This record gives sequence, structure tokens and C-alpha cells, in this order.
Amino acid sequence: MALVTMKELLTKAQRGNYGVGAFSVANMEIVMGVIKAAEELNSPVILQVAQVRLPYSPLAIFGPMMVAAAKEAKVPVAVHLDHGLDIDHVEKALEIGFTSVMIDASHDSLDENISKVKTVKALADKYGATVEAEVGQVGGSEDGSEDIAMMYSDINDILNLYEATKLDALAIAIGNAHGFYKETPKLNFDLLKEAAESIPIPLVLHGGSGISDDDFRKCIQYGIRKINVATSTFVSTVDAVNDYISSVGRPEYFAMSRSMVDGAYANVSRLIKVFGSDGKA
Ligand code: 13P
Repeated sequence: MALVTMKELLTKAQRGNYGVGAFSVANMEIVMGVIKAAEELNSPVILQVAQVRLPYSPLAIFGPMMVAAAKEAKVPVAVHLDHGLDIDHVEKALEIGFTSVMIDASHDSLDENISKVKTVKALADKYGATVEAEVGQVGGSEDGSEDIAMMYSDINDILNLYEATKLDALAIAIGNAHGFYKETPKLNFDLLKEAAESIPIPLVLHGGSGISDDDFRKCIQYGIRKINVATSTFVSTVDAVNDYISSVGRPEYFAMSRSMVDGAYANVSRLIKVFGSDGKA
């Protein structure tokens, strides 16, 4: 079991028609909560951290911890750099032992995006690592600092990026957005279906917080294999800590640490069941 490539997990999910959760983590307790849920449910899982979050969870310290947690796990775990923004960070993650990297050049022109993905693919190949990219911008932003409008990817861009780079997994914009949704998302399932029928690689859904269970299941049915979840796990973690602190007169550090693990665990175990990856390790 233990540390595997994301490609291996997603290829199995493609064959088995289920989704694999890519859970954003920020500290050891959240990592432990994710792994606990995956082990209990015998599910593959992806641990990821986004480049914009590295000021809080430095790659050189936190990255090796993520890799160690994956190696210790009783289920297959991929370790992924989410929304890599430059080659330096991608290379550092690969050196640390991440088995998957995303290069997010979705804000650039298609040509520029293709060129960056090619560079990252050549680099990741040396490490046997998986490469994800994004075409058409997903709404919101990974750390809530920008309010990018919800968008839909262009099917021609999806095809062209795939043909030019032969990358391993592709995030597409189908009306999804990072962070909680301001209004109920209207996902474009026709576009998702068309994309899944047009390219053979697993598709990725960003912005998993706030999407209904029914929509998750529909996305998986139509070809989504990796589902990114960040905000809802962080909220569930903070809520659990809050509940603990308000339930006692004088909070104790280690009990608080345990509540953090439990908070992350609660969200992740619920979602693993919705994604149908339980029992698939
Ligand atoms: P949410 O914060 O909406 O769950 O999005 C997570 C994500 O897509 C990380 O890349």
C-alpha cells in the first residue's frame, strides 16, 4: 500500500467508475484525520497542498510530513502539489517525493498553458510523477483572495491541450468554483460528458465544497475521477475545535489537537462514501 502515483489511483477509478477525493491538508492533525478516514473505509486518497497555502505550511517542512504519512498508511495514498504556479515549486515538490504535481497556467493563453505543461511533463517524467493541469479557469480562487467569475472550459481548448501535452489528468471548468458557493452551482454536465468522451484521461473537479451529493454522483457518472476538497474540511476542523473549546471550562492542548483530527475525519469520511471509493483500496 502506501505512497503511489496519482495516475495509478485515477486509472483504477476510471475502470471502477468512482471518484477519488483529493483533500487539501494544512497541518499534521488534518493529515491524520484524512488518513484515518481512508484507512477505516479502505479507500484510496490523495493528500494535497496548494502553492498559495505554503506560507502557512512550508513545503520543506510540511511536504516530507505528507510523504511520510502516505508511506505509513495502510491504503494507497498519492501526494500532490495543488495549483503549482511556477517550475521552482513543482521541482521542489518532486524532489521531496510528491508523486503528482499540478501546473496551473489556466490564466495564461492556451499556447502558454501548453508550453508550461510540456515543461512540467518532461520534468515529472524523470520522477515517474503524474501531471495535472487546468484549462478554462475555475471560479473563485484557491485561497479566497480573488473572485474569478464561474466559467466554462472551451471543448477545443480541452482537446488541444490534451493532444499537445499528453498529460495525465485535466481540471476543467463546468461552472464549479473554489470556496463556498454564493448561489447554487449549475454544473454543465453536457460539457463534462463531451470532454470525457473526447479525451481518454481522468478529469478533475475543483471546488468540491458546496457541491451537492447528487451533483457529485452525477459528475462521477459522467467522467470526473479526482475531486478537490479544501474549504469544507477546514470548516469542519475549526467547528470541531470550537465545539471542544466551548464545551469545557479550560481547554487542554492535546484534547484540542484530537478534536482537530476528528473534525477533518468527519468531513473526509462522509465524502469518501459519496465518491464511492470506500472499499476500493
Ligand atoms: P474548495 O475549497 O471549494 O473545496 O476547492 C478546493 C480546490 O479545488 C482545491 O484546488
